[in-house]
Amino acid sequence: MSGMWRFLKKPEGPALAFMVSGMLWFIIGTLYGLVSAIDLVAPDFFANIAPLVFGRGRPTHVNTVLYGFVTEVLVGCGLYYVPALLRTKLWSPPAAWLSWLLWNITVLSGPICFAGGHTQGREYTEYIWAFDVTFTLAIVLLAVNIVMTIANRRENSLYVSVWYFTGMLLWTAGSYPIGNVMWHPSTGAVAGILDTVILWFYGHNLPGLVLTPLAVGAAYYVMPRIAQAPLWSHTLSLVGFWTLVALYTHIGGHHVPQGPIPNWLKAMSTIDSMAMVIPVFVALGNLWLSIRGRGGKLLADPAGRFVLAGTVWYLITCVQGPIQSLPAVQRVTHFNNWVIGHSHIAILGFAGYIALGAMWHILPLLSGRELYSRRLVNLQFGLITFGLVGFFMVLTTAGLIQGGAWNNGQTIYRVLPEIAPYMFLRAVMGVLIIAAAFVGFYNLWMTLRRGRVIEPELREEALS
Ligand code: HEM
Ligand code: HEM
Repeated sequence: MSGMWRFLKKPEGPALAFMVSGMLWFIIGTLYGLVSAIDLVAPDFFANIAPLVFGRGRPTHVNTVLYGFVTEVLVGCGLYYVPALLRTKLWSPPAAWLSWLLWNITVLSGPICFAGGHTQGREYTEYIWAFDVTFTLAIVLLAVNIVMTIANRRENSLYVSVWYFTGMLLWTAGSYPIGNVMWHPSTGAVAGILDTVILWFYGHNLPGLVLTPLAVGAAYYVMPRIAQAPLWSHTLSLVGFWTLVALYTHIGGHHVPQGPIPNWLKAMSTIDSMAMVIPVFVALGNLWLSIRGRGGKLLADPAGRFVLAGTVWYLITCVQGPIQSLPAVQRVTHFNNWVIGHSHIAILGFAGYIALGAMWHILPLLSGRELYSRRLVNLQFGLITFGLVGFFMVLTTAGLIQGGAWNNGQTIYRVLPEIAPYMFLRAVMGVLIIAAAFVGFYNLWMTLRRGRVIEPELREEALS
């Protein structure tokens, strides 16, 4: 028992646990993505298997990759880099273990509950009330843990990654219960059009105030380290931080400009979506200026390449985003596969790439073992990049075909055969991404079991 307690109190345990479970969810979540992709190619394929029909498989896919894979891996990274940057031990490893357990109970509830049709039925807030509670507890516990770690810190200055990680926990502790309407346990919704406003307030906080701060915070930690260069500007990093929170919180209306929400809300959402270029370019400019003249170091490092590519996806996502928030553009791009293309380059391209790169960089520091195989990291990079570029091209093209047809008044059943080849290609590309998930899990597991042990002095050097 005392051995168990000692293990639970090891400061690096929870960070590692979040990474391992996140990588496992990567496999499970993307397999559900394939199930949904097959549903869209051959709708009768799983017709007699209720848990796998589109309406159940899709939310399982989306929630598992979002809350399971990308977010968990990035939280694991944060639980490592925040104490490291503060030169202080994590305040309470047992509390972080409890957060890990509660978090994973929530993610596990997806495949179990959605399979039986138990869902709140609102996109991104599908988990039923009991699991909203477990998730909120996990986040609140993590927030307390990190705030207490900051309070006990030995390093006076707060590096920007600490701001982002802490900000994400505090904002999510507030916005998750609101977005999930947790004060109405039986429905998780309020009546009428107001529900759409509340849902999309949260629906955009999820990428904006959960994934973006986690991913940008991790990039700020990893990129200067690999480039062995100081951050270009601390002031600019804080300008990016505060403009992010000032603008992101009220642009959710750009998801529903075709709906009967108030016009002022639509106008505000569109204008502030345009203004989002400020935090995005400030963060990207600061990161890229920090590594200027040393980009080669990042490209030569398998983890650095992932993170650098993630920043490029961030640029592409956030050029596309403001454009598609214009109502005139949405007349063509809304209600079709264009948006699915955007979602995948945003969540897998931007946040997922940075999650993987940061994890491969941090894993040796955390475990004291060298990566089992750098070539497998490169293989994973190649598979995901090939798959995702293909995904993006195929879905954007399919979206434009659908949008054009919609505007020409064509009926849906005439358009479906036109996009069938694209749906097939998406499923094929998806297999590459799933293969990358398996390769990643194998490499992670083998690193922990067989990776060459790093000499303690070298580890100290790497940590400093
Ligand atoms: C970690 C990688 C992935 C992430 C982060 C991810 C994320 C997402 C997200 C956020 C959505 C919701 C999109 C929206 O409503 O706008 C979605 C939908 C979907 N994804 Fe993925 N996905 C990943 C991998 C895959 C893979 C590998 C496949 C196929 C094999 C796939 C197939 C699908 C399908 C079919 C949908 C539903 C599209 C629709 O409603 O028309 N995804 N995914
Ligand atoms: C400058 C920043 C961004 C802007 C202005 C923006 C804008 C938009 C708009 C207008 C839509 C709705 C499109 C439609 O339904 O027709 C959308 C959808 C979406 N965005 Fe972004 N985006 C930005 C960045 C991001 C980032 C960084 C992420 C992820 C980390 C992200 C994830 C998503 C997802 C998942 C959806 C699909 C939501 C759904 O299921 O309908 N976006 N974005």
